[in-house]
Amino acid sequence: MNSDKIRIAVFVSGGGTNLQALIDAQKGGILHSGEITLVVSSNPGAYAINRAAAAGIEAVTVCRKELGDQFEIQLLRVLDKHRIEMIVLAGFMSILSADFISHYENRIINIHPSLIPSFCGKGMYGLHVHEAALAYGVKVSGATAHYVTEVTDGGRIILQKAVRVRQDDTPESLQKRIMKQAEWDILPRAAQQVAKKLQKEKTDGHRPATI
Ligand code: GAR
Repeated sequence: MNSDKIRIAVFVSGGGTNLQALIDAQKGGILHSGEITLVVSSNPGAYAINRAAAAGIEAVTVCRKELGDQFEIQLLRVLDKHRIEMIVLAGFMSILSADFISHYENRIINIHPSLIPSFCGKGMYGLHVHEAALAYGVKVSGATAHYVTEVTDGGRIILQKAVRVRQDDTPESLQKRIMKQAEWDILPRAAQQVAKKLQKEKTDGHRPATI
């Protein structure tokens, strides 16, 4: 691995299609300022773990149910061991505490399947988001890549992309289209933007002081 690259951990809980988009973006050169060096799954059965293995990326499971109040301590331990500099939440279904986030301030990003500030916050994840959007009757939805702060889905927006809602959409069909048209496009680009910024900060920080 190029030592200049920002070491990225991708956090997952399920299918991992967004992880796949990140892996493909890395292969295709869209994500080039950082490298995915670790996948962390909150769920031992997540298909995302297979995707990591197929790409030759180390994956570890850190399970909140098993670890209880040791969950975030264990997460930090694993991240430390792998010298992780940036975290991408890609379908990670566990809310991280303010204390955990403070260890990676402005270094954690998330993909959310709606146009924030609509249909976001506590309880709004996965299909629930699309059910809420259809119940409200919006004609446009989409996805948002944003920084993670202690306010759920409240951090600064990095990229958004709109997707048209169809009259005959089900939560499942809308979810699929938003993933395909928006999430898999903006998440890798947002990851690249943030990795590039962190890489620059790292290089500038290491530059010898000039008088
Ligand atoms: C994605 O649609 C992602 O936006 C959503 O879960 C799905 C995970 O799919 N995340 C949230 O709802 C977070 N609030 P994936 O495992 O195939 O990437």
